[in-house]
Amino acid sequence: MRPNRSGLGNSRRRAIAALLACVAGSALIVPAATSRADEVKPFRLCADPTNLPFSSNSPSQPGLYVEIGQALARALGRPIAYDWYKSYFGKRTVRVTLLGKQCDAMIGLPRSEDFMGPAVIFSSTVAREGYALVTAKDRTVSGIDELRGKRVAVQFASTPQNLLATRDDIQKVTVLSPEEGMQALDRGKADVAFIWGPVAGWLNKTVYQDRYRVQLTEGEGLSWDAAIGFAKASTELRDQIDAVLPDLERTIADLKVKYGLPTGQALHFNAVQTPAGTTTGAGTGAAHVASVVATETKGDALASNAEAVGQGKEIFNGTCAHCHGPDAIQSERKIDLRLLRHRYGDEMREKFLTTVHEGRPAKGMPSWKEVFTDSQFDNIYAFLLTVQAESND
Ligand code: HEC
Repeated sequence: MRPNRSGLGNSRRRAIAALLACVAGSALIVPAATSRADEVKPFRLCADPTNLPFSSNSPSQPGLYVEIGQALARALGRPIAYDWYKSYFGKRTVRVTLLGKQCDAMIGLPRSEDFMGPAVIFSSTVAREGYALVTAKDRTVSGIDELRGKRVAVQFASTPQNLLATRDDIQKVTVLSPEEGMQALDRGKADVAFIWGPVAGWLNKTVYQDRYRVQLTEGEGLSWDAAIGFAKASTELRDQIDAVLPDLERTIADLKVKYGLPTGQALHFNAVQTPAGTTTGAGTGAAHVASVVATETKGDALASNAEAVGQGKEIFNGTCAHCHGPDAIQSERKIDLRLLRHRYGDEMREKFLTTVHEGRPAKGMPSWKEVFTDSQFDNIYAFLLTVQAESND
């Protein structure tokens, strides 16, 4: 689960293995003397092993990002090596893997300075990603008003849910994952699904025989440019990659079709103003993108995330609720766990983990490390993420 446990050792071993394989391979073709150490240094890609359509460690179905990585490695004349990580927490993962020098590049990061600040630099854009409107093939929607009177499946705590929150004339069907959104559509429980596009497209292709139209949307917090991210010291590699990307345009376009990514003209939605004057579409665009990416870059994560949330909530209500309140609803601020993000921001997860492991015995918070496993703590945390108060109060 946590990528920093053994990742470095493994990646180094893998890198060496790839290096040896390559040296052995190239020795057959070219005289060994001509291959400098430099040329065989693998292009190390960080990727999630279970995040189709983007990436997977299955050689038969590697996913869009992994195939782009393979094409790039070929273009650079370097072998590829992978550092597989699995994590739902975008920024933390970037910090541990990419900035921890476990890999050279990560494909699919939101191309925005606000994502990680100057620590991460980007290639040119490789894809546009975001929420999509999924409808029957013969129905086109060209604006939000056409959703009037319709039942629209929206993911819990997503931009589309916020966007439609104030529209009483649109009936919302709340789902926990894009998978559930597609099912709601398929079972006639919703007329339209407004869900995470890459997974909707992928499911449409692999499960629903391409029966639906999947249209990408744009507007605040709805979609963004995805690029290849590098640590800031890697400008040379970034420039090399930017130089070969134009040649791969065709390949990448074909791969997007292969993996069902929504293509074509994006539908524009304006952020909705609430009476209080706050934007419901998103907070500040880029900051919102970062938080969306932190929790929603992956459909698979969402599916298992929904499960994790359910299990975490069960543990929480069974064990933690008598002090922290059922469903974490607690009026005493000091123990109101809905304020964790507000209090700790980026350090929230670390704070959570230390506190539940060690407790604060003097203050009446027990230590739970002998009671729950790491994955149970992760589930509790996943649940707590769903109840965090708006951080800008
Ligand atoms: C017996 C009561 C009690 C139980 C049961 C309990 N806690 Fe706590 N918890 C507290 C108290 C009291 C504090 C505040 C300590 C302080 O003031 O620093 C706290 C603090 C915390 C904090 C830090 C909050 C912050 O803002 O710094 C977290 C996270 C937390 N608890 C999680 C949990 C979880 C998860 C469970 C269930 C596995 C749990 N607690 C069960 C009493 C409890």
